Amino acid sequence: MTDKMLEAFNGTREAGSIASATLDEISKIIKPGITTNEIDKICFEFINDNGAYSAPLFYRGFPKSCCTSPNHTVCHGIPKNKILKEGDILNVDVTALKNGWHGDTSRMFFVGEVSTKAKKLVNATYEALIKSIKILKDGIYIGDIGSAIQKYVESEGFSVVRDFCGHGTGKNFHEPPNILHFGEAKTGEKIKTGMIFTIEPMINEGSWETKTLNDGWTAVTRDKKLSAQFEHTVGITDNGYEIFTSSKKGLDFPPYKT
Ligand code: MF3
Ligand code: CO
Ligand code: CO
Repeated sequence: MTDKMLEAFNGTREAGSIASATLDEISKIIKPGITTNEIDKICFEFINDNGAYSAPLFYRGFPKSCCTSPNHTVCHGIPKNKILKEGDILNVDVTALKNGWHGDTSRMFFVGEVSTKAKKLVNATYEALIKSIKILKDGIYIGDIGSAIQKYVESEGFSVVRDFCGHGTGKNFHEPPNILHFGEAKTGEKIKTGMIFTIEPMINEGSWETKTLNDGWTAVTRDKKLSAQFEHTVGITDNGYEIFTSSKKGLDFPPYKT
């Protein structure tokens, strides 16, 4: 790797570890009765206490420090005074900006006990992300990522959202290339050593179709069935990959034993 690549890796590693530690903090407070605004407050304060900025705050007019997307919300849910209740599933997506570099990650949370079908969807979504990460190395194609995710997810009876994708990240929150979570192996751009990007599959219980609410942000499933998402920021190394946003506490997927 070149010095420039190493600089980007070091910066993204630090931002990624703050983002991931933020989700570790959030996992401590998730229970029936809390509001998504309380999650947003923890996010804002924890990231600031770590000498970083919450990249979503005021990004293209987004009003809060993180995205909170419960149940049939696919992504970009805006924290508000809505109370979470037993049985809800929730995605929290945080992005830390530290020393000019971004670390972007999201996890699913269970609010109390959740249904078997919700657990199955959440597990399949996490598995899909991990399967697509395990194939990463210099020389594969971006289409290999989407193909790995789509094949697995559809074999489990779920669908892959088409309207949102992963993205390059670095000095900018969102950079090229787009990382689609569906598609054909051996198509698209080649993946090269030094590339840094997110993989963030949104997986639906029913159809993949989404619509965006009047607030201009909140994306929901058209059929009102459940949706789940996990996101990691990864980098391509000389002989494989590095995940910049793994939990140092082993809290990568629920149920979180805290
Ligand atoms: N964190 C989201 C992503 O994974 C982007 C959120 S943009 C915001 O790319 F403005 F909604 F925060
Ligand atoms: Co992202
Ligand atoms: Co994100």
